[in-house]
Order: sequence, then C-alpha cells, then structure tokens
Amino acid sequence: MFTRKTALAAALVIGTAGTAVFAAAMDPDVQARQEVMGMIGANMKTIGEMAQGKIAFDAAAAQAAFATIAENAAKVPTVFETESNTDPESEARDDIWMNWEDFVTKATALQSAAEAGAGVDSPEALGAAMGPLGGACKDCHTLYKE
Ligand code: HEC
Repeated sequence: MFTRKTALAAALVIGTAGTAVFAAAMDPDVQARQEVMGMIGANMKTIGEMAQGKIAFDAAAAQAAFATIAENAAKVPTVFETESNTDPESEARDDIWMNWEDFVTKATALQSAAEAGAGVDSPEALGAAMGPLGGACKDCHTLYKE
C-alpha cells in the first residue's frame, strides 16, 4: 500500500493525473480502482505530452509508461470485481457488473494496446501506438464511466 501510494505520488509529480485522484473516495474498493486508473492516467499523460511534443521524446520513459499502463490494466478485473457503487466519488456505472465479461474484455484490450507500445523507439512509433491505446480508454469509458 505504502509503495503503491508513493509510486502514485511520484507519477503525479511528473504526470499529474488530475485532481480526481485526491477527491478522496472513502470506500476502499473505490479507492483501489481509482488508484489503478490514476496510475494509468498519469502515464498516459506522460506519453501524450511526448506525442504532442510538449516534452522531449525519451524512449526509456515512454517504454516505462507503456509497461506501467499494461501492468495496471492487468489489475483492472481484480480491483473492479467487487460491485461497490455507493461512494459519491465513484464514477463507475452499474453496467460494469451487469456486463462483466465485456468490461473484462475491454480491460484486456487496454493491456494488449499498452503491450504493443512496449518497444517504442521513435516519436513515429509512439504516435502509432497512441491511437489504439487512446481508443481502448474511450471504448471503456464511453460505456462504463460516468
Ligand atoms: C475496462 C474499462 C476501462 C478502461 C480500458 C480504461 N478505464 Fe479509466 N476508468 C474506468 C472506470 C469504470 C472509471 C471510474 C472508476 C471509479 O470512479 O470508480 C475510470 C476512471 C478513470 C480515471 C479517473 C480516476 C479517479 O481517480 O477517479 C482516469 C484518470 C482514467 N480512468 C484514465 C484512463 C486512461 C488514460 C485509460 C486508457 C489508457 C483508461 N482509463 C482506460 C474504466 C476504464
């Protein structure tokens, strides 16, 4: 717990996932899934800024970001498994637990898209990997996030 929080804080200093991460959910299940999404968001921000040229391309940093997104995508089915949606900070839709298999499929698609970017070694390769990755976020958020 300590390590994960520390890592998240570090990622936020670099990436800033947005204030939602700190809008403290009280429910530990909601906290856990928002932490995983927060890590994904922070790393997405890093590679997004690189892709836009706001920060310099850095292959090692980009590859690390894709790897962290893949690792956290793999945790999505576990951290979302418990149906828990009464915390006012939750932005999850009940449809997740009504369409659980589809939700897991979308988490797997995110993991695959992130793994596909694991070897990016140029801004062009980064740009090419960003499209499917962003598409995977959108496919799930459209249906399952408020
Ligand atoms: C399998 C479905 C799914 C995928 C894929 C997915 N998300 Fe999410 N995401 C969610 C859900 C559901 C929530 C709302 C969770 C909650 O509030 O309980 C969420 C919340 C978030 C949040 C807000 C976290 C917070 O602290 O409240 C961020 C940031 C985020 N996602 C970023 C991303 C990015 C970036 C990607 C793609 C790289 C992505 N997500 C892919 C389902 C998904």
